[in-house]
Amino acid sequence: MSRPVVYIPRDAAALSVGADEVAAALSLEAERRGIDLHLVRNGSRGMLWLEPLVEVSTPAGRVAYGPVSAADVAELFDAGFLTGEPHPLGHGLTEEIWYLKHQERLTFARCGVIDPLSVKDYRAHGGFAGLERALTMSGAEICAEVTDSGLRGRGGAGFPTGIKWKTVHDAQADEKFICCNADEGDSGTFADRMIIEGDPFTLIEGMTIAALAVGAQQGYVYLRSEYPHAADTLRAAIRLAYQQEWLGDGIHGTAHSFHLEVRIGAGAYICGEETSMLESLEGKRGLVRAKPPLPALEGLFGKPTVVNNVLSLCSVPVIMANGASAYRDFGVGRSRGTQPFQLAGNIKHGGIVEKAFGITLHDLIYRFGGGSASGRPIRAVQVGGPLGAYLPEDKFHLPKDYEAFAAQEAMVGHGGIVVFDDRVDMARMARFAMEFCAAESCGKCTPCRIGSTRGVEVLDRIIAGHNREANLALLDDLCQVMTDGSLCAMGGMTPMPVRSAIKHFPEDFHRPARSQAAE
Ligand SMILES: Cc1cc2nc3c(=O)[nH]c(=O)nc-3n(C[C@H](O)[C@H](O)[C@H](O)COP(=O)(O)O)c2cc1C
Ligand code: SF4
Repeated sequence: MSRPVVYIPRDAAALSVGADEVAAALSLEAERRGIDLHLVRNGSRGMLWLEPLVEVSTPAGRVAYGPVSAADVAELFDAGFLTGEPHPLGHGLTEEIWYLKHQERLTFARCGVIDPLSVKDYRAHGGFAGLERALTMSGAEICAEVTDSGLRGRGGAGFPTGIKWKTVHDAQADEKFICCNADEGDSGTFADRMIIEGDPFTLIEGMTIAALAVGAQQGYVYLRSEYPHAADTLRAAIRLAYQQEWLGDGIHGTAHSFHLEVRIGAGAYICGEETSMLESLEGKRGLVRAKPPLPALEGLFGKPTVVNNVLSLCSVPVIMANGASAYRDFGVGRSRGTQPFQLAGNIKHGGIVEKAFGITLHDLIYRFGGGSASGRPIRAVQVGGPLGAYLPEDKFHLPKDYEAFAAQEAMVGHGGIVVFDDRVDMARMARFAMEFCAAESCGKCTPCRIGSTRGVEVLDRIIAGHNREANLALLDDLCQVMTDGSLCAMGGMTPMPVRSAIKHFPEDFHRPARSQAAE
């Protein structure tokens, strides 16, 4: 028998449920049995309920077992898992698992498949093909290709990526920057982290292509401090990319140079807002800047700067490798390509589902997600992070499409979907939205700084049953002031979850009086 290859993720989600212990047990048991095992620490496939997911390479393909604990390992050897034999924890061929088989993985194609820190493996799976093509094109041509693909920013606002790059390309300056927003503060989101841990060269490649497009020579990844594993993997990948001349001066024998560094945020939701992130990158407190000027014209250190989310940048290599039209063939309306949706909260099968835009919420939460983890009816989902709307069951038919969501006063955002069963109290969720804003507000403008605190107080009165109709009217007025008068989307969009809760779940705001809400 040739040397068996076994995969076990080093992804943070897998580590949190014992992947390291399973890896150690696999090595020990193999040694005990005199088997020379090749253990690969891959990224996660994104099927979180199966983690730690152990895969073994067989002539028919990779065979999956999970969730595996250290105590299961000896039994797996006994059952013959090294040749893909059946076991109660077995799921057959990984690629045939329904959840994976029915996805359209473009951005996440390599995540969980390759060794994240092997350039050879990355190359063998199509890596750097996009950059190689970009190296033969002019900056304007790259911008046009990305614009044609229809790619829109995956960080939340959905702004066309190619148009942003063109603005930076056209700006005259002695220095330009590429800044990757890896702050990933939205509740229920983890796709940025997973791809950095599972396929970091894709981000490096995407940022390098962005640099070629606009004429930048320096880039930064702004990574949240809560992601230490992602930081380690990314730093190691950057070192390897320098060693193999995919970064640095004279990339692969060309005249192009690009340098990349990681910066760790101190942990504030507002540091994900792009201007606040730039302040933080400059070593200052994360305070929102007024726009204009746009960061594309006056960004980091006052220079033209591309700010893009991890997923936007990670979508670029496949666009450049396969061409714009192959990417824009996926999707609906003005929402082109695919989005790695993230299923979280009270959901049976949480994880990453990369699908073309147009898939309904219903299919995501029932067909992929398998319904609630508690087995109780799903009552609400919050889509697009803490500033996104709460949607009831009669909106689950909504297709994932920026415009369709906007028409329902909701947003796709970063693709996070947090599920709640029928025990959720939506008045308390509305209060939580205001409380979150009060805690995370940067404090620069009054409607957000003061409005959110007043919002908590008004909601407390509503929950306690004090003068409800008048307080609901006051809350609506306050929401309008925050929407109209806030400097950024933090204060400007906090009314979205609050108003959607009142609109779709009015009964929760008229229940018998409850005591002080701050439990
Ligand atoms: C309060 C707030 C928090 C945000 N947090 C993030 C974040 O964590 N990650 C992110 O990519 N964008 C975040 N954004 C959006 C960014 O301001 C910006 O639109 C985005 O990074 C641009 O990249 P994109 O065009 O690739 O989406 C946030 C915006 C606001 C208002
Ligand atoms: S809306 Fe809030 S977070 Fe945004 S600038 Fe104003 S105070 Fe700061």
